[in-house]
Amino acid sequence: MRSKTLALVAAGLGTALALSACGANQAAPSNEGGSDTASGGGGIPVGVILPETATSARWEGFDKPMLDAAMRAKGLDPDIQNAQGDVQKFSTLADGMISQGVKVLVIASINSEVGTTVAAKAKARGIPTIDYDRLNLGGSSDYYVSFDNVKVGELQGQGLADALKDKPGAQVIEIEGAPTDNNATLFYEGQQKVLKPLYDSGALKLVQSQKIDNWDNQKGGTTFEQILTGNGGKVDGVVAANDGLAGAVITVLRKNGLAGTVPVTGQDATVDGLMAVLRGDQYMTVFKPIKEEAENTAELAALLAKGDTAAADALAKQTSEDPEGDRQVKSVLLEPKLTTKDTVKDVVTAGYVKAADICGGDLAATCAELGIS
Ligand code: BGC
Repeated sequence: MRSKTLALVAAGLGTALALSACGANQAAPSNEGGSDTASGGGGIPVGVILPETATSARWEGFDKPMLDAAMRAKGLDPDIQNAQGDVQKFSTLADGMISQGVKVLVIASINSEVGTTVAAKAKARGIPTIDYDRLNLGGSSDYYVSFDNVKVGELQGQGLADALKDKPGAQVIEIEGAPTDNNATLFYEGQQKVLKPLYDSGALKLVQSQKIDNWDNQKGGTTFEQILTGNGGKVDGVVAANDGLAGAVITVLRKNGLAGTVPVTGQDATVDGLMAVLRGDQYMTVFKPIKEEAENTAELAALLAKGDTAAADALAKQTSEDPEGDRQVKSVLLEPKLTTKDTVKDVVTAGYVKAADICGGDLAATCAELGIS
């Protein structure tokens, strides 16, 4: 198994193949198979476990390369793996990293249950953990790095409210994230800050709000379709909690001849999401500068690896509430940005996507008009 992995890496066939080839080889050295860059031999070993690939293009497209670069710049030697939505795999990856002797473990959990179990195991071995992007409720990580996730929801709510401001009584369907992801709860909370008063006043009408287990994009699409059918094919606006769910919703809208006329929200500024925004099928996305999230995590990890908790505390000046554990977790919470057609350019300028990735074919003229090149 190991030689197969090495052969694939040597052949330059890419990390995805290498990852699947070494899935069972958890005892492999920390620099094998996970991160894109081979270890130079130096650096403090740090483990990172990402949750999935299918729920959002962000995890492999942004988080993985950005964490890898940021951690190497801080003198760390990261082993970055993805649990592919499998809680058992998440645990096994963590066990492997702990026994390899990582100095810090960074976890973006599939759910709080597995995240909490993993953090407790690491703690028992004296390994500090950082909750990355998703807070593990009832967990024991001393630090959390993420975005202001209530604000993310507010931006989504505001985006939809703006898009529907001239349509009194507009009918809204909400396709929400996973009930087991605390972020999804916070996104919903933020959305409702804006939308609930509008529902209450009758300015907008809520048809139905539905949480989608595991952020399953496909299930998001079928659920949306059922709600739409149940409402006689009528919808004026859709809250979709991320770009993946938005894409599934737009596919259904297109099938019904409604794509481009019904505003849909999103999040993550993925390539597909940005293209849908440019095309007018998606009204907005939320751009979360993941490079900053990765850099703050790398800095915290480097400080914790050295045992410098005073400097780590100075960096993580904010707090996040863990209602289950009844505690405040020291946090770095970054600012999300509302992105509509007019501001897609900013995501390109910031270097998250290349103009060439989003401006092909039918979008060339739109990009030219918006000065995206
Ligand atoms: C992240 C989002 C992501 C979603 C699905 C959330 O916890 O904050 O950026 O779209 O998970 O992966």
